Amino acid sequence: MNESGFYITTPIYYVNAEPHLGHAYTTVVADVQARFHRLIGDETFFLTGTDEHGDKIVQAAERNGETPKEYVDRISNMFRNTWPLLHVQPDRFIRTTDSQHVRTVQRILNTVHEKGDIEFREYEGLYCYGCERFLIERELVDGKCPDHKTEPVPLKEKNYFFLMSRYQDWLIDHIKKNPDFITPERYRNEVLSFLKDPLEDLCISRPVKRLSWGIPLPFDENFVTYVWFDALINYLTGVDFPDGDLFRRFWPFVEHVIAKDILKPHAIYWPCMLKSAGIEPYRRLHVHGYWKMKDEKMSKSLGNVIRPAWLVEQFGADAVRYCLMREMNFGLDAGFSEATFTTRINADLANDLGNLFSRTNTMLHKYRNGVIPKDSGVHGPHRELEQQAETLVREYMERMSDFEMHLALANVWRELNRANKVIDSMAPWELAKDPEKAELLDSLLYVLLEFLRLVGVMLSPVIPEASSRMISALGRDPVQEMSSDGLEWGRLLPGDATVRIPSLFPRIERENKEKRKRKQAKKTGEKNKVEEKKQESNGVITIDDVFKVDLRVAEIKEAEAHPNADRLLKLRVAAPEERTIVAGIAQYYKPEEIIGKKVIVVVNLKPAKLRGVVSEGMLLAAKDGDTLRLVTVDGDITPGAKVS
Ligand code: ME8
Repeated sequence: MNESGFYITTPIYYVNAEPHLGHAYTTVVADVQARFHRLIGDETFFLTGTDEHGDKIVQAAERNGETPKEYVDRISNMFRNTWPLLHVQPDRFIRTTDSQHVRTVQRILNTVHEKGDIEFREYEGLYCYGCERFLIERELVDGKCPDHKTEPVPLKEKNYFFLMSRYQDWLIDHIKKNPDFITPERYRNEVLSFLKDPLEDLCISRPVKRLSWGIPLPFDENFVTYVWFDALINYLTGVDFPDGDLFRRFWPFVEHVIAKDILKPHAIYWPCMLKSAGIEPYRRLHVHGYWKMKDEKMSKSLGNVIRPAWLVEQFGADAVRYCLMREMNFGLDAGFSEATFTTRINADLANDLGNLFSRTNTMLHKYRNGVIPKDSGVHGPHRELEQQAETLVREYMERMSDFEMHLALANVWRELNRANKVIDSMAPWELAKDPEKAELLDSLLYVLLEFLRLVGVMLSPVIPEASSRMISALGRDPVQEMSSDGLEWGRLLPGDATVRIPSLFPRIERENKEKRKRKQAKKTGEKNKVEEKKQESNGVITIDDVFKVDLRVAEIKEAEAHPNADRLLKLRVAAPEERTIVAGIAQYYKPEEIIGKKVIVVVNLKPAKLRGVVSEGMLLAAKDGDTLRLVTVDGDITPGAKVS
């Protein structure tokens, strides 16, 4: 058996609606992981596809005046055609209506049936059509399904049941023995806590008279297979279970990516099904949170979705992939807004990465005719970039392997900032004027170029197109560089020619909201309310008004993401006594970059609870369109000093 394989899957998406940002996220995560594993030399297989049976699909087809077959063909194609727009390259796109899949499902059903793990019984319960399953009382919120916000309907019928409860003890034991089986840990704990209560057996059939759009049970033609039993098996069909070569090669390495909505089927039903069928369980299940719009889960049933194609039109595929990976801490929820993506792209991609690349490239062409110089190893601040490279690669490998893409990227950006600072401090434009500094300039340029090559390789799973452009511009072959060798320091060859390219990521210009509002107001002949108020008082205040506000210098001691809000940071500041301040600056500053800053704080503001955390003051900051900068002091001064 090959020791280093990787088989990654996404959920197969229901074709009852078109793809949206949520589906795009999971699929991009899987693609990033597939590319990362290819980069480090693992034989890799990436599966995605569509889930096409069940009540929901029949209803959606009826609403559209199509037959189920016409309908599933059309929507499945929408999913299939969306992925290339995002540079997603699955190895196989599976559909549960494929005849191969139908055979696989029937085969597994027979095995489980023959084993005596399927029983025919009458069941009465509360059925949610949205979830396509019976819900138990304690899952309901105010009598409704928490996901679909609809009341489940009482239903009584005879059906086949998979005796899942037989595997409860085995499953608990397996999860406990394999700490990585379900990650991040919070979901593992959630599953273990759910398993403290006895498991109910799983209803796995629907009478044909009620639903014919499904896979017939091989042992009773009056029934079709319940969607989850059908859907989960796609992961086996996808690698040609039972005797395909792909199955032998890849099944031992299978890892699934899902959002928390389908944790239970994946963490409970699926391992029990596999165990009953005598198949090894998966290696790891990776569970992420929800993309939200204004605090509501983005979902087709709530009608608040963002189309992936629209995102790509607005920002470009690589930039969207970057934002998806950077803006969501894998496992937690994240809010989507156009403004956050714009800020992220301008700050990280256009400024930090794009500018570094173009300024280095420009200097190389200006001072060395675009030819890669030799690094004599001469000492200077730039050596730190080389020294940090190994640590950076190690951290990158760990973070990526642990599905912490946001942290892997944050680490790369820490070093990009270092590189930008190295340029500012060494001022190559000054070195270029002094012939005695030629060796130092050569060395600096080499280190910067080599650093950019390395960054290009590390970022290739996330921004594949831009990475290829970077690497080609540096005179290397992207295919050769995107390998584990490419992660070694010192591959650029002195004397090789480089190419000048247009900016990697152009800035995204957006009218800011204020401007837009003013324009709108002008159009309608109305006056902006703020303007009116200003005119009333002429905007003039007295010195007493100024002195009412107690402004102090405060040092930021700790900073972290707010537990309940993506836009907020929770800070501990000393002014000089410590206090907590909640500030809406998360889209402009990373917690780690503001610790130690001396800022100006309003200290006599009435404390207020902001999303569950009491804030005792307010930071001053300057805002200009999509840019926000904290007001700081010019030089050293003791925290607590009064600002006047
Ligand atoms: O559940 N945020 O299909 P589905 C993040 N067919 N991810 C989201 C999301 C959001 N707001 N909305 C959807 C099904 N997703 C079954 C799966 S698998 C054997 C069968 C993503 O179309 C996320 O991956 O409802 C979630 O788990 C999946 O879409 C649900 O897709």
